[in-house]
Amino acid sequence: MRRLRRRRIQPILREHALGKDDLVVPLFVDECADTPVPIESMPGQFRYPVSSIAGVARRLRQKGLTALLLFGIPATKDSRASGAYAENGVVQRAIREVRNAVPEMVICTDVCACEYTDHGHCGIVGETSEGPDLLNDPSLSLMQRIAVSHADAGADIVAPSSMLDGVVGAIRTGLDQEGHHSVLIMSYSTKFASAFYGPFREAAGSGYSFGDRTTYQIQPGNAREAFRESELDAEEGADILMVKPAGLYLDILADIRSIGLPVAAYQVSGEYACLKAAGARGWIDERKAVMESLVCIKRAGADLIISYFAEDAAGWLDEEQ
Ligand code: PBG
Repeated sequence: MRRLRRRRIQPILREHALGKDDLVVPLFVDECADTPVPIESMPGQFRYPVSSIAGVARRLRQKGLTALLLFGIPATKDSRASGAYAENGVVQRAIREVRNAVPEMVICTDVCACEYTDHGHCGIVGETSEGPDLLNDPSLSLMQRIAVSHADAGADIVAPSSMLDGVVGAIRTGLDQEGHHSVLIMSYSTKFASAFYGPFREAAGSGYSFGDRTTYQIQPGNAREAFRESELDAEEGADILMVKPAGLYLDILADIRSIGLPVAAYQVSGEYACLKAAGARGWIDERKAVMESLVCIKRAGADLIISYFAEDAAGWLDEEQ
């Protein structure tokens, strides 16, 4: 084996290499921002005004990146998340800006309500036998409506992130009824109830005012349930499955590949924050650690990697050429 590891031989024996077209860039668009607002717990990330999103898309395209995932932060919230499906809502406007500026960009959108509800949960909330909680079925038509509004604005891929039961089927029906047959669904099919979403909740202003999300997300120790959730979404018509977070769940990712659909991995805000914080203190070499984390996600089986490091990684890939 030692002979195989000779430096000159290594490149031709490399099993997996990261490419720019593996990467999806998550972007926050803030209806209230006039200039890019830095996100404190995610150094290097910003909430962008709608007016600057075209410029950002051009910059990313120039760096060779081909896909975005948009999140919106609305100016006002209510209990029914009406801003999430408004024709001139923050994400809908951002989609049109990107589409005009960079027509070939693949636009994915997060389909969820937690940024748009005043209680911060991912759908419609009501009384249950265990107190106030997310109501599954009343939330489905809301998700349908949000997804259709994104498709109407020009999204290529809608990504329901709420883990509601039946959400993929409901969205597929809604899209097809409106003629959006070619819009794909990337389901957050295996989403763990993770502490690693913490910085995102600052970024997107989506912290919740009561309870938690453990009633609709998977507990970290459950592998069979995780697989089954993805399998169900595949049966409902998902086009792309997703595991989230990425780094701690590579065994799950490798398993889910066997379902046969493309698989995405989401390297989430907390994974970003940890690498950034240690890198900033000189405790790890940020660039090496980030590139290692990304190629390992690829090795485990990801066809797509959603990562806040995507832009940096694209630059580093250029330098390696
Ligand atoms: C829900 C959503 C969340 C993330 C992506 N979509 C928050 C959550 O589930 O609590 C988290 C992503 C990250 O942490 O980077 N709209």
